[in-house]
Amino acid sequence: MTKPFKVGITGTGRALPEKRLTNSDLEKMVDTSDEWIVKRTGISERRILDEDMPLSQLASKAAKNAITDAGLDASDIDLIIATTVTPDYLSPSLACSVQKEIGAEKAAAFDMNAACTGFIYALKVAQGLIMSEAYNNVLIVAAEAMSRATDFTDRKTCVLFGDGAGAVVLGRVEDGTGIDKVNLGAIGKMGSVLTIPCLYISEEDRARRSEGMKQVVWMDGSEVFIFASRIMSEATSSILKETGTDISEIKYLFPHQANIRILQNAAKRLEMSMDRIYSNLSMTGNISSASIPVCLNEAYEKNMLQKGDKLVLVAFGGGLTYGASLLTWSK
Ligand code: COA
Repeated sequence: MTKPFKVGITGTGRALPEKRLTNSDLEKMVDTSDEWIVKRTGISERRILDEDMPLSQLASKAAKNAITDAGLDASDIDLIIATTVTPDYLSPSLACSVQKEIGAEKAAAFDMNAACTGFIYALKVAQGLIMSEAYNNVLIVAAEAMSRATDFTDRKTCVLFGDGAGAVVLGRVEDGTGIDKVNLGAIGKMGSVLTIPCLYISEEDRARRSEGMKQVVWMDGSEVFIFASRIMSEATSSILKETGTDISEIKYLFPHQANIRILQNAAKRLEMSMDRIYSNLSMTGNISSASIPVCLNEAYEKNMLQKGDKLVLVAFGGGLTYGASLLTWSK
């Protein structure tokens, strides 16, 4: 039965740490150069969370901004989904810590991990729960402290990642705007090309890391690069085809921000000009699941988004995972 409503983004928020780590800072730490990093990745600087600050504090700041932007109070939130691969604790979950910090006392709360695709996965879960009428207002908070899972002696990874948090509130919209479709996918058999161990580590993964380093990112950069370049355009094309949407109808593509060359490759394959592909990569680096909601909030604040605009959000990441969403902007 068709419902008289859809699920739309009713509020957005972000929070980035103050501290900046520039390419010239990295030149003093590893054998690299600003020129190499900019040319090969498009990144100039990233934000780093202070050592004594829990990620939950940054996540709560983004969450509060999104709730205020939605014109709601924390007490209106029914469910909090936090996406992260770098939680402060496995228990309590990041979502429970955010619930406490923002005072959303009636909200259920849980974490989910689909690595850099986490936000798109959470969007599908939230959409399903609101459409089924289980919940009215769902907060997704995507927060990452990738610097805490980085080996700053490994030049192949330490130039890529940063910290940050983005959040959205989702609720019912009755004007035809909102989420049209979300597609998700995973290729578990390729999981070993990007790993962050937790309580267990295989011998193979131990051997790939510096002595004494366990819970840090290891990545086969070129394998991930090939996968990401292909999947970004394929996932976008599929969702457009399945919804009967022409690419010319899309105002902006909001991709996961990992490497400017991945975005350029996708632009070429999709025959889209780069000015329709949102990017803040140069100032944030890769902030995993937080990257898309941070971009949405930035674009909204810059008045780039108007109600009725059609957008595609597309992400890929560890797992390997991928996902895309077609939506019509509701604010
Ligand atoms: N500074 C200087 N040189 C570096 C370097 C750095 N920070 N990192 C790697 N290099 C060197 C390599 O050691 C290699 O040297 P060699 O030829 O002497 O062995 C050379 O640069 C080329 O390395 P390569 O790995 O082929 O570079 P690349 O063009 O593939 O770029 C990545 C590497 C990591 C930037 C790129 O593969 C990438 O972005 N991959 C996808 C990452 C990603 O998206 N991850 C997250 C998914 S959510």
